Formats: sequence, C-alpha cells, structure tokens
Amino acid sequence: MLVVHKIEELRKIIKEQKKLSKTIGCVPTMGALHQGHLKLIEKSKKETDFTVVTIFVNPIQFGVNEDFSKYPRTLPNDTRLCKSVGADLIFAPEVNDMIGNDLLTFVDIKELQDNLCGAKRPGHFRGVCTIVAKFFNIVTPDMAFFGKKDIQQLFIIKKMTKDLNFDIEIIPCEIVREKDGLAMSSRNVYLSAEERLDSTILNKSIKIGVDLIEKGESNPQNIISKLTEIISSVKTSKLDYIKIVNSEMKDVSIIEKGNILALAVYIGKTRLIDNHIIGEKICF
Ligand code: PAJ
Repeated sequence: MLVVHKIEELRKIIKEQKKLSKTIGCVPTMGALHQGHLKLIEKSKKETDFTVVTIFVNPIQFGVNEDFSKYPRTLPNDTRLCKSVGADLIFAPEVNDMIGNDLLTFVDIKELQDNLCGAKRPGHFRGVCTIVAKFFNIVTPDMAFFGKKDIQQLFIIKKMTKDLNFDIEIIPCEIVREKDGLAMSSRNVYLSAEERLDSTILNKSIKIGVDLIEKGESNPQNIISKLTEIISSVKTSKLDYIKIVNSEMKDVSIIEKGNILALAVYIGKTRLIDNHIIGEKICF
C-alpha cells in the first residue's frame, strides 16, 4: 500500500492505473479511522480495481469555535487499518498544498444546506463541497463512497456531483454502529465514560421515534416533542436539533416513507449526529 502526500505524485500514479484500464475508487475521510470508514474502503475494494483513501482534516469545513485543532490525527494507525482492509493508496496531502493562503474559488450549494447541520454550522458544507470537489479533480475516481451517517452530506455531494458534471458514481454506505447502537464517529473519543453511556440516547431516541412512526404516527411535531423530552432527561445532553425532512432536506408536515429522522445532540461538549431513513430496516 502506498502513502502519498503530494498532488503531482498522486496524479502520476492515477494516470498509470488508468493506462492499465483500472477503475478508481475514492473514499474521502478526515482520518482517525474506525470500522465505519473501513466498511467504505471494503466496499470500494469490491466495486473498483484501485482504492484511494484520502485523509485530510479540512480546515475550511470547521467553524471558528469548532474542534479543528483538537480533531484526532492518527496517521500511523490509519495506515495500519487501511493496509488491513487492502486499500491501495492513502492520499494525505498537506494543508498548504490543498488550501494555501490564496484559495478564491469555493463550491457553495443552495437550499440543501439551509436545514439540519448546514443551518447549525454556517459555511460547513461550503467547506465540504469545495474540498470534495478538489479531491474529485485530483483523484478522478469512477466511484466515490460516502456514509449514510452524514446523511445531509451524502445528499449534498450527490447533487454537487450531478450539478458540476463529475463523471463519478456516488455510492451510499450503511451506518456502522457500536454494539450498543451508538453510530461510530471519530469524535466518540472525546466522550468521558459517563458521556459515553449517555451518548446512546441518540440511537435510543431514534428507535423510539421510528417505532412510533411504524405504529402509525405521521405528525412530525408529535415525534419531535416526544424525543425532545426523552433527550432532555439525560443529564449531559443538550439538543441541537431534531428534524424530519424529505430528500430535499425540507421539514415535512406529514411523515412518509423515505423521509429522514435526523438529530444532533451535544453530549457534554461533543456534538454527535445520527439519523434513520423511514421505511428502511432498523438494526440497532
Ligand atoms: P469523516 O467524518 O472522516 O467521514 C468520512 C466518511 O466516512 C463519510 O462519508 C462519513 O459519512 C463516513 N462515516 C463516518 N462514520 C460512519 C459510520 N459510523 N458508518 C458509516 N459511514 C461513516 O465526512 C467527512 O469525513 C468529511 O466531511 C469529508 C467528506 C472527508 C470532507 O472533508
């Protein structure tokens, strides 16, 4: 497995692979890899001939008061994990080479970023779209793999890919969870022992909401009130949002199959997110 830091070196390797008629898979990440990331890599291995994992803690998607400087950076362990699942190459560029001080061009998606995390983290998806578009231009993959854990990101990247005519198939991957149901996240390492126990309130409340919907509740406000009450009963938690949206990321007035129950909750100082697509099997 290769570890490449420079854009030009990566481009050379991709050209060689394409000359050999190999298809390229790309798994964009910010590192601190866990089983959720590894599932994406395994899927890319299955679907394409040459899997590139990008590892880059992207400064332009973090707000000023967010955790950019303390975000875990664990390249030696990430390298070991990527090797263990058979990735072909890690691309881990320097911030200077990707962003520099003179970036004047950004990708800014309308509407889809106005709700959920986009509304709570102004500028976040502009940073995500810009960096992902840059990685798409550098890696030029045939397929790129994204987790449903970041469901708004997945829908936004799909739309950006279509709007900007990237010739790339976006492949969604299921949420990977801990045994107790907590969605895996690089940020889970921030949680104290007590917070780790409390953090299962995200998946537990989603499950309760989905159960109510399956029993016939179709009014989003009733679900939102019930879950707000449940979440606020947990000592270390502070609700950021609970929403039920359609695939355009707009709040719905009647719940239907394919809608998304999404929430963000601070557990202590750590902001965690989770979601479920109504109608899909719940397995936690
Ligand atoms: P990061 O949080 O590292 O996530 C990288 C990819 O892994 C994303 O597609 C995310 O949805 C997926 N992922 C994370 N946890 C997961 C889980 N528990 N189950 C399934 N998939 C999971 O998302 C980003 O990085 C960045 O915004 C990025 C797209 C790399 C742009 O900087």
